[in-house]
Amino acid sequence: MSAEVLPTHTPALLAAAIDRAATLLRAGQVVGVPTETVYGLAANAFDPEAVAKIYALKGRPAHNPIIVHVASAEMARACAADWPDLADTLGAAFWPGPLTLVVNKSGRIPDLVTSGGPTVGIRWPQHPFMQGVIRACGFPLAAPSANLANRLSPTNAGHVLSQLGAQLPLVVDGGDCNVGIESTVVDVTGATPVILRPGMITEPAIRAVAAAAAVQATGPRTSPAPKVLRSPGLLPRHYSPQARLVVWKWRDEAELARRVAELQVTPEQVCILVHTQIPLSGRYPQVMLIPDDAEAFARALYAELHRCDEMGARLIVVEELPDAPEWVGIADRLRRASAAE
Ligand code: TXA
Ligand code: MG
Repeated sequence: MSAEVLPTHTPALLAAAIDRAATLLRAGQVVGVPTETVYGLAANAFDPEAVAKIYALKGRPAHNPIIVHVASAEMARACAADWPDLADTLGAAFWPGPLTLVVNKSGRIPDLVTSGGPTVGIRWPQHPFMQGVIRACGFPLAAPSANLANRLSPTNAGHVLSQLGAQLPLVVDGGDCNVGIESTVVDVTGATPVILRPGMITEPAIRAVAAAAAVQATGPRTSPAPKVLRSPGLLPRHYSPQARLVVWKWRDEAELARRVAELQVTPEQVCILVHTQIPLSGRYPQVMLIPDDAEAFARALYAELHRCDEMGARLIVVEELPDAPEWVGIADRLRRASAAE
C-alpha cells in the first residue's frame, strides 16, 4: 500500500479530504492528519481496535497514553468523568489551540487510549481540517504525532509519507504546521495546574489565566502557580533526529571549530542551526538560519532537523536558546533530542 495524499488548499479540496478521511475513520482505519502543532495519526478514540492499530503502526510502547482530539466543549466533557473549573477556564482561554488538558477519563474512553491510567489528555485543535473531520465523524479522534516511536515529529505531509506512507491508506496534506512543536500538556485534576509537557502556550500565560480565575472564585489569597512535572511516556530521549544533536554556545568560530573537531566530525558532516551567531568563515557548507523569535523558531525547527537527517548529517549543532518562558517548550524538545540513548 502507498498512501493516497489529499490536498486541502481550496474549500472544495478541504471538503473532499474531510469526507474521505471521515469515511476511513468510521471504518476503523488510521489516517495521517494535519494539526497546527504537528501531524497526527488519527483513529476513532471510542474504538479500541482502531486505537490498537495506532500503537502497532508507530511501534509505540503501551505505557505511553494518546491524546484525544475533540471539536466542541460537549465532546470534551463526554470524554471526561468530571469537568473541573480549571479545565473550563483554560479551555475558554486557549481552545481551539495547542493545549492538552489532562482530566479524569469517562467510561467511553478505552483503557488502551490512556495506557490503563485513570486520566485522559484532551485537545481541541485549531486546524480547520481537524475541526471539520471531527465534526463529520461525530466522535473524538485519538492521535499521537505521526512518527515512528522516538523519532522526530512531522510538520508537513512529506515527513509523514517518508516515515509511514507505506502503511497508511490516506495522508491529508494540510500544509506546514503553524505552531511546529507538540502541544503544552497540563494536568487539571488538582487545585493547581501542573505542566506535564511545556509547549508554545507558556507557563506565565497559564498562570495568568488560572490565577485570574482563582481570584474571581475565592478572593486574592489563593492564586495557583502551575507546577512542572514529568508526563508518563515522556522518555529522556525523544523527538530525535537520526544524527547526534548538541546544543552549544561558542565565543568565536575557532572555539566552534575546535569542538566540532573534538567529536571527530568533518565540517561537511555537520549541520549548524543558528539564530544569532552566524559562522561567516565559509568553513561549514551546512549553516541553517532559524529566526530569532520563539514562534518562528518553533515553526521551522523540525523541518530543519528533518532536512539535516535527509542530508545524512552526522552531527547537528544548535546554537543555545534564550532563557525566557516562550523558549521553554523548544528547549525541552532539544534537550530530549540531545539526550544520550
Ligand atoms: O500537539 C500534540 O499534542 C500532538 C498533536 C497530534 O495533537 N500530539 C502529540 O501526541 O504530541 P504524542 O502521543 O506524540 O504525545 C502525547 C504525550 C504523551 O507522551 C504523554 O506524555 C502526554 O502527551 N499524555 C497523553 N495523555 C496523557 C495523560 N492521560 N496523562 C498524562 N500525560 C498524557
Ligand atoms: Mg510524539
